[in-house]
This record gives sequence, C-alpha cells and structure tokens, in this order.
Amino acid sequence: MKYLLKGGTVVSGTDVRKADVLIEDEKIVAVSDDMIQDDAALIDVTGKLLFPGFIDAHTHFDLEVSGTVTADNFDTGTKAAIAGGTTCIIDFATQNKGETLQEGLANWHKKADGRSSCDYGFHMAISEWTPQVSDEIPEMFEAGITSFKMYMTYSSRVRDWEIYQILKRIKEYGGVAGVHCENGELIDELIKEQKKAGNLSPSAHPVSRPSSIEAEAVNRFLTIAKLVDVPVIVVHLSSKEGFREIEQARENGQRVYVETCPQYLLMDEGRYYLPGFESAKYVISPPLRTKADNECLWKALKEEQIDTVATDHCSFTTGQKEMGKDDFTKIPNGMPGVETRAVLMYTFGVLEDRISLTQMCKLMAENPAKLYGMYPQKGCLEPGSDADLVIWDPNYESRITAKDQLQNMDYAPFEGLSVKGRAEKVFLRGVLSVEDGKVIKENHGKYISRKRGNLD
Ligand code: URP
Ligand code: ZN
Ligand code: ZN
Repeated sequence: MKYLLKGGTVVSGTDVRKADVLIEDEKIVAVSDDMIQDDAALIDVTGKLLFPGFIDAHTHFDLEVSGTVTADNFDTGTKAAIAGGTTCIIDFATQNKGETLQEGLANWHKKADGRSSCDYGFHMAISEWTPQVSDEIPEMFEAGITSFKMYMTYSSRVRDWEIYQILKRIKEYGGVAGVHCENGELIDELIKEQKKAGNLSPSAHPVSRPSSIEAEAVNRFLTIAKLVDVPVIVVHLSSKEGFREIEQARENGQRVYVETCPQYLLMDEGRYYLPGFESAKYVISPPLRTKADNECLWKALKEEQIDTVATDHCSFTTGQKEMGKDDFTKIPNGMPGVETRAVLMYTFGVLEDRISLTQMCKLMAENPAKLYGMYPQKGCLEPGSDADLVIWDPNYESRITAKDQLQNMDYAPFEGLSVKGRAEKVFLRGVLSVEDGKVIKENHGKYISRKRGNLD
C-alpha cells in the first residue's frame, strides 16, 4: 500500500520543516517538498505535525512481581501504547531467580509474540549472576538483545561485585546496561524504622526511600562503571541529588546516559498525603520527589543533559494496590503511563516552552532509537526507515480520564488533567493502526532484533 501524506510539518531531532512524506509498504520512500504521486492514497495532513513513531524504552508488561502480575499485558499495554503514538516499546524480559537468560527470554517471547499492537524489543534484566549466565551473554546479542538491566534494590537486586562483572562482560560485546539506582540495604533499614514507629501507610514509602538513597546508588554505580570504563544508563532518574552525581561523573569525563519519566517531572510527594488509600496509586520506586526536583529535571531536559523520556509503565489496579492496605511495603510498586507520555510531554513540555519540538522528538524517538540500536530503522522519518509515523493534531483538546483509556486500569494517575494535542493517526510499518485516536489495527507488532546502540 502506498500513502502520500501531504501538507504537514515534519519534526526531526534537528529541525521542523514543511514536507510531504511518501510511504510504500513498510517503509518511508521519500520526504520532500510538493510531491505528486498518482498511485498513492492521499492523506491531507495540513496543520498537523509528523513525528517518527515514539519509542518507550521502559515498560513492564505481564510482569510477575510482589505476589501479583501487572494489570497490563502485551495485549492491553501495546494497544494503549500505539493509541498514544508509541510505535515501539522495549520491555524488560526478566531472568527470575534460578532461571537461565534463555528461559527468561523464551518466557517474554511467549508473553508478547502474536499479541502486540506495536513493535517491541527486550532488555534482559539479570537477577542472578553465575558463570553459566555469563556464558549466555553472547547468545543474548545474537537474539537481538544488546541492553541489560540490573536493580540495586528489591529482592532481585545484584551486589556491587556482580554489577562489576556484568558490566565487564557486556563491555566485551559492546552492549549497555541500565540500572535502577537505589540503595536496597538502607531502604530495608528505613522500612524497619517506619514499621517500628507504627507508620504503615503509603506516607512511609517516600520516607524509606529518600533522594540520598538514590544519589548514593547512582554514585556507586558510576564508580563501578568508571572502573570498568564503560558507558552506562541511569534509568528513571527522579531527583536533583541523583542528577548532581551524574553531572559530577560527566565532569570527570564519564559517559553517562540518563532517562526520566513524566511522573518525575509533573508530580510531587504531596501525592503521598492524599486522604484514604488514594496515595497508594503513587507508590512507585523511586518515589515522587519535590517541586524543586521536578524543576531540576525539566532544566536538565532543556539543556539536553537527560537523554530519554520513557514511562516505567508498571500498572496495578486499585484492587491490587489494596494488597498493601495494612502495610505499605506490600503495595505493588508502579504506575501506568504508556498511553499518556506524548500528550503530557507536548502539553507541559513543548507548549510551556520547557522543551522544543525537536527536543521532544529526540527524547522520545531519535535518542532511544540510537541508544538502543534501532536507528535509522526507527527514530526518524528518512527514506528507508520503517514507516512508523505519528500524525499529531496540535490543537486537539481533551481531559485525561480513566474511562477513556485503553490501558487495563481502573484509574489514571493524571485523572482530570486538561491536555492539548493527540496522536490522530498512527502508522506502524506502513499500516494505518490508529485513526481518529482509535486503534483500528491490532496485533500487527513484531519483535525488533536490536543492534548495538550509539548515541554519540
Ligand atoms: O515502581 C516501579 N518503578 N516499578 C517498576 C519496576 C522498576 O523499578 O522499574
Ligand atoms: Zn526500576
Ligand atoms: Zn522499571
């Protein structure tokens, strides 16, 4: 099928310009002025912005955690993603304790294959490091997995010596690791103190995970990375204190990539003091911080000191959150976000002049594509690239509400917020998958085998 998108404004990571876009089958064929193509279906996109399909490099779909499983699986999660303009996600395939990496990967393919409405790749989350697991690393690269995840907190956390060995092994193959930076041992102590003081409500959650706990872990992780001499990624950065550590490491010549998420830009710790059990919705790790932290992260985005904006979509219904009604440590950690990332970044980033359109494109498409080895197949609108395209209506006005969302959730963290802009139409590899904001093509997503990334 051939489409000519005529009269729109094409956004890239470097410029914003009027151009027509010609799509044929799965690929973009041409991007140029005043094209005529009689055999193509014509779509008038006058007044619309054309972005490369957005990439969300941090989702957790169908993840078994805290004695439950995330509310969104690949079916509901990827439908919600594409409805919001995200044409590719990278989810965290997870090696559970006692499993091989191959078993973890096979599990994730079973969860995702044939039921995804946007394209998907996997990072591999390593929970246990043994000589056998080390031997499996080359097989991961052959399988298209070039990025790895480690947690410095939770029961799946790895120790410093393991991080050191894993980074050394990944470096041999030119891969990259992203780490959840929080000091798990100290969190356990602070939790004990909160419990002893009888504070079992969600308001104890941020107290047990202060910014200093994130900053210490960032510092330790970057110390290890410096010893190994390898670039690394700090995922879901939440705090000014953590950012300072990154600035310092960069001043000392280290290459550090940073991801943040809309919740750390737009929400603050006030949510932990909402009445009743409402605050459980915001029990995420790292926790929400202060307005000053929000502003620090926005400034870092504007100055291009943060490289990507993902969501850390990890959704649990209010019923699931109730598991921690009498003990905040039993509330499953995480919140949804995959559906609303673009509209939030457009409304509160671009329209409030905190980031430019080109920066939005970099943060949500070009940079993740480069960092995670999918560029220029994805992340740009260039001849030869996958025809993943978002036709963005910049004037559409709406209000975020749970009843309109596709993610499998009974609440929306940003409920009631007025927003501007929407993904009016979305193409996934040349197939019109969203029309008038509605998903019209399901299960067209395919696994993306990734190469080694390079953002420099
Ligand atoms: O609370 C969160 N963020 N849950 C998802 C897992 C993680 O830490 O990335
Ligand atoms: Zn995390
Ligand atoms: Zn996560």
